[in-house]
Amino acid sequence: MTSLTLSTSTAAQVDADAVVVGVVKDGSGPALASGVPAATEVDAAFGGRLAAALATVGAKGGEDEITKLPVPEVPDGPRAPLVVAVGLGAAPEAGDGFDPETLRRAAGAAARALSGTEHAVFALPVDDEGGLAAVAEGALLGAYAFTAFRGAREADAAPDSGAPLARITLLDAAAEEGGRQAAARRAGVLADEVARARDLVNTPPNSLAPADFAAAVQTAAEEHGLKAEVLDEQALADGGYGGILGVGRGSATPPRLVRVSHTHEAATATLALVGKGITYDSGGISLKPVGANETMKCDMSGAAAVFATVVAAARLDLPVNVTGWLALAENMPSGSATRPGDVLRMYSGKTVEVRNTDAEGRLVLADALTRAMEESPDALVDVATLTGAMTIALGDRTFGVLGDDEDFRDLVHETARRAGEQSWPMPMPRELLEGMKSPVADIANVGGRRGGGLTAALFLKEFVPAGTRWAHLDIAGPAFHEGSPYGYTPKGGTGSAVRTLLLLAERAAAGELA
Ligand code: BES
Ligand code: MN
Ligand code: ZN
Repeated sequence: MTSLTLSTSTAAQVDADAVVVGVVKDGSGPALASGVPAATEVDAAFGGRLAAALATVGAKGGEDEITKLPVPEVPDGPRAPLVVAVGLGAAPEAGDGFDPETLRRAAGAAARALSGTEHAVFALPVDDEGGLAAVAEGALLGAYAFTAFRGAREADAAPDSGAPLARITLLDAAAEEGGRQAAARRAGVLADEVARARDLVNTPPNSLAPADFAAAVQTAAEEHGLKAEVLDEQALADGGYGGILGVGRGSATPPRLVRVSHTHEAATATLALVGKGITYDSGGISLKPVGANETMKCDMSGAAAVFATVVAAARLDLPVNVTGWLALAENMPSGSATRPGDVLRMYSGKTVEVRNTDAEGRLVLADALTRAMEESPDALVDVATLTGAMTIALGDRTFGVLGDDEDFRDLVHETARRAGEQSWPMPMPRELLEGMKSPVADIANVGGRRGGGLTAALFLKEFVPAGTRWAHLDIAGPAFHEGSPYGYTPKGGTGSAVRTLLLLAERAAAGELA
């Protein structure tokens, strides 16, 4: 893991391999972001002509732009031999600080550009605790690589498989002020736990069956003082979990339901989090075609986010109870698989006609939602890579937030915005329920094609008691990033929703959910 320390030092006092400075877009060229003493020091080594030197090599100061230059050696100058200038876009209006997400992304892009490097000092414009937190988060989130399955020989490794930047020193004149150390520690825990979720998502499905996921929870629970309980296939059968069993029965690796909880003696609220944990989604008998199945190891991203959030809550000792429910199954076709036309009796007692075995997420979630509500939590949030339809509606970077209780839905959406995650509230039009009418069962698992992400939420609602403060996050778009990395977002698993859920738990701890 990348380490991060705060320092009130100047660039000249720290031995490092690189120094990161911010540049803004000033007219058509770059200008140094003002008010950062360490950056001024670097500029002095260039005889005050750093911006001009950057302009010469084509820098403009636009967001996500990275320019590297060697630092001239001057007496008492910066010790780092390399300057990494990261673009911040237009400078904020006088009196305003930079938008935290701009800082987060810039720090992430810089950290990514420094993979393979040992130690970098960051001299970005940090005006307050929020700015510091954003830079710390961005740098740590950007310094991520998934190398567990690389060959042992370096020669076999792909060119982009460099180890992440190992050590980060954040320069901040106010580093010793109250709150700053706590903000840095929170950023460290947050980045570790986002990395936990990313690692789980990136782990190939032949190495992460439901039982493997459950074992990973038990290991982390011991390490971080959480309580973990695992229902295996026998316990699921005894308990009548027809949804989870119906999805898992086609697979050679049986399903699990995991309950993992953080409790605090001073807690006055309990937050229940439910995660979809399909370790691989082939579609089942309603098999997905080539082109739609290559990345379906990502279908446990919701469970990964929930798990990571519970661990983060424990590590930060949040005065709130957080209970995670992970509905784990592999969706495979076989002679024992659920067929289109089968009827399942769910944990709630409701019956469901499975018309499409590829709409499996809602089946495992339904059982977990019913189980979670037996404990009467104060709020309930489920997280799932639930529908391709949501990616059609919102694209690859924005998750949908749905729920019957519009105030709570909007609160979760607002929490995501504050956490730096893109989300959007979506409606649940009642008429879409019509399509899920079944001639044989209480409800069918699919409706018409249009509005598929909304229909899925209406199905889940059938398993959530009226009046529950419930929100459903459909993270099918942002959970797995197939394009080139940008900002602090790597290729592959992104850890989507962890930051939102952690901030939600913190808000619950602060009494803001009541
Ligand atoms: N896991 C998929 C949804 C998904 C799609 C996640 C793309 C990530 C990226 C889900 O289980 C699924 O297959 N949903 C179906 C539902 C349909 C059969 C009603 C879909 O979206 O096509
Ligand atoms: Mn599916
Ligand atoms: Zn799925």
